[in-house]
Amino acid sequence: MSVPKSYKAYVAQKDEEGKTTCSLTTRSIETLSQGEVTIKVAYSSLNYKDALSASGNVGVTKHYPHVPGIDAAGEVVASDSSLFSPGDKVLVTGYDLGSNSDGGFAELVRTPASWVVPLPPSITLKESMIFGTAGFTAALCVESLLRNGAAPNKGEVLVTGATGGVGSIAVALLAKEGFSVTASTGKQEVHSMLKNLGATTIINRDTLIVDNDAPLLKSRFQGAIDTVGGKTLETVLRSIALQGSVSACGLVGGNELHLTVFPFILRGVNLQGIDSMHWPMGPRREIWRKLSQEWKLPILESFTTTIGLEQLDEYIQLILGGQIQGRIIVKVNSQS
Ligand SMILES: NC(=O)c1ccc[n+]([C@@H]2O[C@H](COP(=O)([O-])OP(=O)(O)OC[C@H]3O[C@@H](n4cnc5c(N)ncnc54)[C@H](OP(=O)(O)O)[C@@H]3O)[C@@H](O)[C@H]2O)c1
Repeated sequence: MSVPKSYKAYVAQKDEEGKTTCSLTTRSIETLSQGEVTIKVAYSSLNYKDALSASGNVGVTKHYPHVPGIDAAGEVVASDSSLFSPGDKVLVTGYDLGSNSDGGFAELVRTPASWVVPLPPSITLKESMIFGTAGFTAALCVESLLRNGAAPNKGEVLVTGATGGVGSIAVALLAKEGFSVTASTGKQEVHSMLKNLGATTIINRDTLIVDNDAPLLKSRFQGAIDTVGGKTLETVLRSIALQGSVSACGLVGGNELHLTVFPFILRGVNLQGIDSMHWPMGPRREIWRKLSQEWKLPILESFTTTIGLEQLDEYIQLILGGQIQGRIIVKVNSQS
C-alpha cells in the first residue's frame, strides 16, 4: 500500500483571542507527527478527553493547530521499525496520541512504534475502537477490583457515569464476571440499556450523593468504578464496605476530593487510581487480548453509534453536555 501525499484531518485551531474552532482540512503528509509507524486510520472513537482537546483545554493539549483523537485503529502503510510492516493491522490508544501528538481524527496518523499494539486476531478494527480508550480503561478498572479481592459473592459493585463510554463497558464487564452491578446514571430514559448491559439495580446520580460531613456512611457496596469524581467519589468512598475497593478514573463531576482518612483506616478501603494513558506495553497487550477473547462484548455494537469526521462537531457538543449513551466510533477510512 502506498503512502498518500495528503490526508483529511479534523483540525482544532486557536485564534489570537484564544477561541478554538475545528474544521475538516486537507493536510500534506509533511504535517504528520514524529514516529516510526504511519497508519492509515480505519476507525477512531470519541472520548470525553477528545472533546476537551477539541475545545481548547490546555490541560489536555498545549499546542494548536492540533488533530484530536486519543484512539486509532488501522493498517500500517509505512514503518521504520522492525516490529511493524506495511499491511499489519494495529491499534493505538493513549500515550500522547491525540493529546500533544496529532491523533486519530485523521485519515493518516504517525506514532512511535512503542505506542502500537498489534490487533489481536480475534477482534476487528471496528470492534477494537468500540472498546477504544473507554473499554481499555473499564477493563483496567475491573482488573484492579479483581486484583484487590472483589468477588461476585461479596455484594454489589457500583458504577458511576454508567451510560458513558467507560461506565457502560464497566457495567457489561462486571456483569460478565458474575457481579451484581448497581448503575448510577443521570438519565431517566436509558434504564433498559443499562439492564441489557447487565446492571441489576439502577439509581439516580443525584440521590447517590450524600452532601454532609459524616466521615463514614452506611456500607452499601463491596466496590465501585467511579468515572465522575468530586462529590460522587466522596460519597462512594464513605459507602464502601470493609476491605472494599474503588477504581477511580474520571472527573466529569469535579476534580476535587474532600474526605477524612476514616474510610481508609477504619474500613481498610482501597482507592486505586487508574491511568490508561501510560499503562505499560506488556500488560497493555494482555488487556487487549482479554478484550478480544473472554471479555469480548458483542452486545456493545447495539449501543454504538458510528459517525464520520464531518459529524464530530455535533457529537463533541453532546459529550461535553453529558448527553452521550454508549460508544461513539468514528469511521475514517473504508477498511474494517
Ligand atoms: N484515567 C483514565 O485513564 C481515563 C480514561 C478514560 C476516561 N477517563 C475519564 O473518565 C471519565 C468518563 O469518560 P468517558 O469517555 O466515559 O465520558 P462520557 O462517555 O462522556 O461519560 C461520562 C458520563 O458521566 C456522566 N456525567 C456527565 N456529566 C456529569 C456530571 N456533571 N456529574 C455526574 N455525572 C456526569 C454521564 O453518565 P450518566 O448520565 O449515566 O450519569 C456521562 O455519560 C472522564 O472524566 C474521562 O476523562 C479517564
